Parts: sequence; structure tokens; C-alpha cells
Amino acid sequence: MAFLICGGVPLVGEIRAQGAKNAVLPMLFASLLCEGGVTLYGVPQIGDVGVALSLLTQMGVAVSHGGDGSVTLDARAASAPTYALADAAAIRASAYLLGASLFRFGEGAIPYPGGCSFGKRPLDYHKNAFLALGAEWEEDETSIRVRGRHLHGARFSLPYPSVGATVNFILAALCAEGESVLYGFAREGHVMDLVAFLQRMGAFIRPEGNALYIRGKCPLAGLSYTVPPDAVEAGTYLIAAAATGGEVTVRGVRYGEISPLLLCFGEMGVPFRFLGDAVTVYPARHLRGTSVSAAPYPGFPTDLHPPLTVLLSRTAGGVICDLVWHDRFSYVNELEKMGLCACCSKGSVRVRQSCLQGATVTAPDLRGGAALVTAALVARGESVIRGEHLIARGYEGFAEKLYRLGANIRISAEP
Ligand code: EPU
Repeated sequence: MAFLICGGVPLVGEIRAQGAKNAVLPMLFASLLCEGGVTLYGVPQIGDVGVALSLLTQMGVAVSHGGDGSVTLDARAASAPTYALADAAAIRASAYLLGASLFRFGEGAIPYPGGCSFGKRPLDYHKNAFLALGAEWEEDETSIRVRGRHLHGARFSLPYPSVGATVNFILAALCAEGESVLYGFAREGHVMDLVAFLQRMGAFIRPEGNALYIRGKCPLAGLSYTVPPDAVEAGTYLIAAAATGGEVTVRGVRYGEISPLLLCFGEMGVPFRFLGDAVTVYPARHLRGTSVSAAPYPGFPTDLHPPLTVLLSRTAGGVICDLVWHDRFSYVNELEKMGLCACCSKGSVRVRQSCLQGATVTAPDLRGGAALVTAALVARGESVIRGEHLIARGYEGFAEKLYRLGANIRISAEP
């Protein structure tokens, strides 16, 4: 499937942010931790959630969908994951099955997790975190197995605030004997959302300064929980609104997560208003260039850097540097086919003012695909964005929401 977009129409209107992809995925896998049912409200209907639910179903978790968009998971009959879970290779979040399996079964095996491909995505921090807790780790090029029936509390320092390794350490430490401390943990909103979710289950997890204290063996119970809003999705629409010179309100936004983008809007001269839980972007008289470094929280989120490149091309120019994923720039080649004037070097892209034209391009990954759609909304003429399925991994009803905002967009079988 492909997006067909005729650009040049300013986006106008109001939408609500979907449930957060990177918060709901660990919550779904954490349903393995308790015997009682877990009901999640506001689960986004996106590709990665579909894969996660399919993996859990294959493991024997009973999954039922409510008419109100809720999903209930009952893991009482679940069994440990094995190499046969081929779909695990399709998403990154399947790595969370390792921590959840150590908790629940004392072992687990999965094909090597996949996800967006931007260079090497090693799991050495996850491995060292598990080893510190007394687990065993076996790995070859295609798969990973973990074992450890009697984990012990440990003090472990992450060399980098990795989101995935923080989540896996928490999940495994919850079944360890005694207290564990994780230093240098990731503080992204979705990590803290998982902490709040686990606390509601009965877990003892306490952030204090640079350390996260986790007490093992607390009884955990089923719960109902509403998935928090997706700041990356919200930010993508706000950037698209600013790039097309439109006026868009996104509801269901949390200030703490969106503030790095708002700070950037301020520097670029994008007028906006934050009121209650809604951000409105207004047309700018004159956009200014800027330089941005994507970095771990509270820095500018790496997942928003690709769409921001498009907005930057509407200004006198600037530089975007990604300190998290140095190789997250394949989308730039595709944008160049649309007339982007840019120059990439390791870990950064220098963008010059560009006049974008419609073209046929291919999404290299989820957020790179969102950047191409943003560019097509701005560009003169018609664009075809191939690889719709990659974008659907993280954006619920992307074409429908943009259509509601006035975009000339439709999805078609690939031409
Ligand atoms: N890293 C290592 N070793 C590890 C783990 C990470 O060297 O064992 C490095 C990575 O190579 C990278 C950096 O540490 O350079 C950060 O990686 P992190 O572990 O934080 O990323 P992740 O858990 O694999 C999650 C999100 C990503 C998001 C990053 C950073 C999920 C499912 N994925 O990935 O989301 O970019 O955190 O915030 O939560 C997306 O939504 O499009 C997406 C890619």
C-alpha cells in the first residue's frame, strides 16, 4: 500500500493524540507478570501492537478486545516464549519478553528483536543488566535465550540511559530476591508510565535522583489502566501543521513530554498555545532556522527529528544532530528526491531552505516515513509514499486523521 498525497494545503482542525506506542508495548508484555487480568484502555490500533498481541496469543495469553477500544489480557495459561515466535523478529519491543519471561517462567527464548533499521541496535546493556541480576544469557546471530530461576537484587549502572535496557532491568528485578538499584536509568515519559503502571500492579519501584530502586517479590495483581497519550504522534501532527502553515489543535498532550518541541517551535518562530491538555499551532509570519540535538529525555526526542527536518527546510536552514541514533538518516535520501537540499554527515544533517516537489519515494522506517508524508503535505504536486505498512506500525489511522485536517491524501494499492 502507498499514500497518495497532493500537497500545498495548510492543515486545519483538531485531533486527539492516540495512546502511546512506546508505553503500551511494555505494558502489554508486563501483563505476563500477574495472574489477574489486565485491561488497557486507549490501546492504539497500530502495527506493532498487533504483532505484540499476536506474540502473547501464541504464548497462550487470552486476549479480548472490548468495543470501547480496550484490550484485556489474561496470562494465567501462558507458557514461556520459544524460538518459534517468528514475529518477535518484526518488532524491537519483543525484547521485553526476555525480562517478562525471567519474571514469570525463569526462562525464555526469542528470535533476535527487529524494529526500525537504523544501523546496529545491540542488546549488550540488556545482557549485562540480566547478568548482574544472576541470569544467564545465550545469544547467536538470530536468537537469544535467558535463564534464571533465582535472581538476586543487584546494583547496576547503565553506561547510557537506554529505554529498552531500563525496562528489561525493571521487569527482571521485580522477581529478584531483595532490592535492586539501577543507576543512570532512562526517564522518557513512556518509561515513567510503565513504572506507574507496575506500581499500580503492586510493584515497589522508587526513582530517587539518578537511581531507580526496585524491590523484588512484591505480590502483583491485575488492573485496569488507561494508556497515556503519544507525544511523538502528537508532535508529528504539530510539525506537519507548522510546515504547511496551518492551524491545528492536538488534544491529550502532556506538557513535560511536548515541551522540547515547543521550545524548538519558539526558536523557529512557530506561534503556539498550550492550554489544559491541548497544543494549538498557528501560521507563522516568518520561520527561523535553528540547530537541534536529539538526545535522551529531557532532550529533543529522537523520534521527532525526521519530521522536524522537513520543517527546517521551510526556514533559512539549520542542523539536526541525533545523539541517540547516529544512523537514523536514510529518509534524507528520499527527501532529496523531493528537492530537499541537505548534507548528511555521521550523526547529523545540515538542511538548507528548499522548495519541495511531489515525487515517488519509499519510507525507510516508521518516523522516516512520517517525515516523507510531512514533506508530501508541503510539496507542490502529487507524491506517492511507498511502505505505508511501516508508518502504520506507529500511527493509528494516519491518512484518516490527516484527511480530517484537510489534507488531500488517500491510501491506494501500490502503483
Ligand atoms: N544501545 C546499546 N546497547 C543496548 C541498548 C541500546 O548500545 O543494549 C544504544 C542504541 O544503539 C542507541 C541508544 O543506546 O544508540 C538508545 O537505545 P535505547 O535502548 O534507548 O532504544 P530502544 O529501547 O531500542 C526505544 C524506542 C525507540 C526510541 C528509543 C530512544 C521502543 C519500542 N522503541 O528504543 O522508538 O527511538 O527508545 O528513545 O520503545 C520509534 O518509536 O520510532 C522508535 C525507534
